[in-house]
Formats: sequence, structure tokens, C-alpha cells
Amino acid sequence: MSFRIQPAPVARPNRCQLFGPGSRVALFEKMAASSADVINLDLEDSVAPSDKDSARANIIKATHEVDWGNKTLSVRINGLDTPFWYRDVVELLEQSSARLDQIMIPKVGCAADVYAVDALVSSIEAAKGRAKRISFEVIIESAAGIAHVEEIAASSPRLQAMSLGAADFAASMGMATTGIGGTQENYYMQRGAEKYWSDPWHWAQSAIVAACRTHGVLPVDGPFGDFSDDEGFRAQARRSATLGMVGKWAIHPKQVALANEVFTPSDDAVAEAREILDAMEAAKARGEGATVYKGRLVDIASIKQAEVIVRQAEMIALS
Ligand code: COA
Ligand code: MG
Repeated sequence: MSFRIQPAPVARPNRCQLFGPGSRVALFEKMAASSADVINLDLEDSVAPSDKDSARANIIKATHEVDWGNKTLSVRINGLDTPFWYRDVVELLEQSSARLDQIMIPKVGCAADVYAVDALVSSIEAAKGRAKRISFEVIIESAAGIAHVEEIAASSPRLQAMSLGAADFAASMGMATTGIGGTQENYYMQRGAEKYWSDPWHWAQSAIVAACRTHGVLPVDGPFGDFSDDEGFRAQARRSATLGMVGKWAIHPKQVALANEVFTPSDDAVAEAREILDAMEAAKARGEGATVYKGRLVDIASIKQAEVIVRQAEMIALS
């Protein structure tokens, strides 16, 4: 048992992160009007190389002109292996309005990747007198990223969230799939004639959750590519929520409501958590550390489990 207290992540809702290419200006107002907690304007893989400069200019303009409400506004820059990323950082930090909250760094492979961006951002913030400190989020989407996931989670005080990027991750790992998240046809156990589909993303998600929880970072599930498959999205999101992730990306607006539904604790779950807390209060008054709730054991650890749900619901209600 460590005597260190697990740090709390930032207290803001992150149930859904809605993405849109920086080259499709017509989507910006629609994204702002959505019910996503986080908006990710993209400069990376949804923008063609020939459009990088204009997409950057579009996004900078949109930080000044679009009303983003109380959403977290994040811009995904290009990877550190490209000729684009330094201009992304310099132009965003020099020219965007104070409304810009966060930069998303893709394909992070080690803590030094985050350090490099932090150094550049810190220097421009000081030079320009930017009062608001830009926060970071990273995507784990490579073999190196998952191998170094804990040092990445600890890499910068700016880091608020970490996502699993299933498509690039699968490619980097040499996984035999072209699916972006979700059930994979060939990943199953067999007993007799019965097949049972297992979850190939599970271990990477758990590694991310453990690294994030150790260092006070929000763990987030990335994209689900098949946006015509609502039940597939729900199933993937429910597994992620069960593992400790706080939200999921939407790569199409119809996925926003699905993510919000799964990552908002239901009224029933909150009511049950409150009943467990009440049952434990009553047990404590009787001098007991464990008691029975609806025919099952609840003890002091159950208080912490119930508090996760109640705190999440209260934080969302306040936002
Ligand atoms: N955010 C907000 N609104 C969006 C949107 C988005 N990301 N994508 C589409 N819409 C809007 C459309 O403009 C359309 O609006 P309308 O009813 O007013 O005409 C409506 O939602 C339905 O769109 P649809 O025709 O089904 O989609 P599309 O063919 O225009 O675009 C994608 C589909 C997948 C190309 C587009 O959603 C997209 O670019 N998603 C994000 C991709 C991305 O950023 N990837 C990087 C992270 S993995
Ligand atoms: Mg990617």
C-alpha cells in the first residue's frame, strides 16, 4: 500500500469529444451547437497535406468568431514526425484567441515528445503574455506509446487527458484488422460449436486507465469508426466505462448522444450508490465496517466505489 494519495484528475466533464476536420469550416457552428463536452478541431489525419495551412487559419479564426459555449476547445496538431507540427503550435499559440483551451498531441511515443511541445508552448505563452495556460491531451496510438504509457501520463502538469487511438494503434502493433475499434471477427474463443468474441482493445485500455489514474489524468476511449452501428458503439463505450474510462470520441454527430448516454451515470446507478453510502453510514453508527445491502456484501471499499459514481454525477450536474 502506497502512502501516496492518488491525484484527482481535472473536474470537468469529458463524456464525448466531437471531432471535425479543420478544413470543413461549415461544420464548426454545428459542432459548437452539439452536446459534446469537448470539441476537437483537427489539423492532423482528417486534413490533406495541401490543406494544412488553410485549416490552421480556419481554426484560428474560429477561436475568435465561433461561440463555443462552455465546451473544452481543443485542437489536434500534427505529429512530431511531420513538417507541420511546429507551425501548428506557433501559429495557434501566437494567433488564436484566449478561448483555446487545449492542444491534442497525436502519436505520442515517449515523455520527451510531450516535453518538446511543452517547451515550445511555454516559450510562446511567455512571449505573448498569454494569461491562460494551455492544457494538453495525448493519443496513445503506437507500440511505443503503450510501452511508455506511464512515463507519458507523468510527462507534464499540462496533461489533462489521454485517449486510445484504435486505428493507428492497430497499424503500429501489426494487428490483422482494418476496423477502428469494436468487435473483431477473428478475435474469439471457441468451445465446441460456440464462439465467444473477446475484446482485443481491453489490455491497452486497462494500461491507459492505470497510467492515467496513477497520475491524475482523464482516460478516454478513442474513435469507433462504423458510425452506422449504434449498438456496436454502445457496447464498446459500456466496456470502456466499466474499465474506468470517462468518455469516448465521436467522429460523427450521431455518436454524441450515445457517448453522453453511456458516460453519464444513470439515475438508477446514482440512487443505488447513494443507498450504499447510507447503508454504510448506518453500519458505521453501529460500529460495523461491513454490512449487507440487497443481499450482498458492502464494506469500506464499497464507499469508495459508490463515491466514484456520485462524484461523477455531481460534477456533470454542476457543469
Ligand atoms: N461535426 C458536426 N456535424 C457534422 C460532422 C461533425 N464532425 N460531420 C457531419 N456533420 C453534419 C453534416 O454537415 C450534416 O449536417 P446537415 O444535416 O445540416 O446537412 C449531418 O451532420 C449529417 O452528416 P453526414 O452527411 O452523415 O456526414 P458527412 O458525409 O457530411 O461526413 C464524416 C461524414 C465522417 C466525413 C464527417 O462526419 C467527419 O469528417 N467526421 C470527423 C472526422 C475526423 O475529424 N476524424 C479525425 C478523428 S478520427
Ligand atoms: Mg491517429
